[in-house]
Amino acid sequence: PLDTTIPDNALVCLIGAAGAGKSTWASTWPGTQVLELDRFRALVSDDAGKQEATDDAVFALQAVLEARLARGLMTVVDATNSETAVRAGLIATARRHGVPTVALVVPTPASVCVERQDGRPDNRSVPAPIVRAQHAAVVDAWPGLPGEGFDHVVVAENIHRLEPLLQRLSD
Ligand code: GTP
Ligand code: MG
Repeated sequence: PLDTTIPDNALVCLIGAAGAGKSTWASTWPGTQVLELDRFRALVSDDAGKQEATDDAVFALQAVLEARLARGLMTVVDATNSETAVRAGLIATARRHGVPTVALVVPTPASVCVERQDGRPDNRSVPAPIVRAQHAAVVDAWPGLPGEGFDHVVVAENIHRLEPLLQRLSD
């Protein structure tokens, strides 16, 4: 059975390699609801691609996340979230605030994710081996996502396919 449930006032964790299309999906939510790690890197260092700034960016993102979840506000975390420990931290934070969690998996093929690095500015272009490793980590993680504690595991592609149908039903 296909889960396409994204409850209101949830924590949505996008999961996908660089170039998978996470930020494109995130842009379907109002801007203030989206916590994009690259944006926080830019806010703390003036450079969205500065990997050295990641720890500070994560710290700042978590502060905003806490403030939003304490208010029960819809929040979308736009980062690869390909590491188990990162997802566990997000789930624990949501639990503390009694907020439901959604894993929104963006399952774009690795070869496409790699190709999409091409036209990107240097500081945003992720090397192919890293993209492939992120993709492999997501593929490995996928079957275990419900067991990790996500209330819903939604595949972005499925929503996409359902869009025309949903549109027709709402007409
Ligand atoms: P990172 O921020 O590096 O982790 O990547 P991301 O997962 O946020 O990918 P992003 O949304 O930036 O998309 C990467 C590129 O793919 C962009 O140029 C998008 O316009 C393009 N793209 C995203 N989704 C689609 C899609 O469904 N179809 C096509 N053709 N292009 C897409
Ligand atoms: Mg992005």
